[in-house]
Amino acid sequence: MHLDEVFARYENDLSIVEERIRDIFKSRVFAIPLIGNHILDGGGKRLRPLILLLSSELAGYGGDTRLTLAGIIESIHTASLLHDDVVDGAEIRRGKSPAHSIWGNQIVILVGDFLYSNALRLAVLQKSQRVMETLSEATTRMTEAEILQLSKMGDPDISEKDYIDIISGKTAALISAACRIGALLGSLPKDRENALALFGMKIGIAFQMADDILDYMAEESELGKRLGKDLKEGKITLPLIHLLKTAPVPEITETREIIKNGFRKRGLQKILRFFKKYNTIENSMEEARAFIAQAKFELDVFSDCPARESLYAVADYTLQRRK
Ligand code: IPE
Ligand code: IPE
Ligand code: MG
Ligand code: MG
Repeated sequence: MHLDEVFARYENDLSIVEERIRDIFKSRVFAIPLIGNHILDGGGKRLRPLILLLSSELAGYGGDTRLTLAGIIESIHTASLLHDDVVDGAEIRRGKSPAHSIWGNQIVILVGDFLYSNALRLAVLQKSQRVMETLSEATTRMTEAEILQLSKMGDPDISEKDYIDIISGKTAALISAACRIGALLGSLPKDRENALALFGMKIGIAFQMADDILDYMAEESELGKRLGKDLKEGKITLPLIHLLKTAPVPEITETREIIKNGFRKRGLQKILRFFKKYNTIENSMEEARAFIAQAKFELDVFSDCPARESLYAVADYTLQRRK
């Protein structure tokens, strides 16, 4: 199955989710829906709500609560993007000027805070202790990982373990939570709930690896973000970690110099040349591919059905995506 078919199958549900997301931005304070609409109208794949809906289907739950929780998951993601773009000093998001460059950092940080807390407030109303635990644990891990990432900025000695730690928290924790919530809604037994959560964790890790590869390789107009921004920000991600491990000493020294001196256009071009020479992108993709294979393996405990097929399609998509 292709991801487009999966989205098509969920078109009606996702249009209701869209309304639920907008509900979370509702406020008598005008700036909140204003900034909300700016980022929501910029597009966004809505991958996390889709994953939550598919997990619910796999768990045999079709009630209305999944639509609300899918909206909550996307709102938490949106809040994290608002904050992330301030922290990273991003120049483009979803093909448009990011909110902070229009309205300033202060208000955007606070709108992000509002979104986090309003999303969790609405989640409390669902009266499920386990769902609340899952969401609050995910948001805590996300922030913790962002802080770990900051502390590793510009550090060429960052280990691959640190990197996996960072991306597991900042990206995979929320995707995993989306999967676990689906399982909880369907009251799956613990082993199946954990299998779904691990599936989410592993595709989430691969998803961020792909993002970090796309940062060097994508088509800027398609990606809707600036290329090479990770290097410019001092973010040492999978491709650079691989290069620093596999290149000969003189080129490692040169790469470390480029990282230390921050971004120069020629620095990026040199890194891209090294990537080509040492097959870095393909090796990084290979690693992401391994996570996807392991993720699919987690779903072996479920029997074959359209929901499982669709989750496989989401897993495959994370490696094929161009945006
Ligand atoms: C962007 O996530 C942030 C990362 C975790 C890489 P997405 O690539 O899902 O962004 P949107 O929501 O589709 O814009
Ligand atoms: C993902 O990291 C950020 C979040 C999980 C919020 P990045 O900083 O790489 O994301 P992009 O590339 O800006 O979307
Ligand atoms: Mg960023
Ligand atoms: Mg990125």
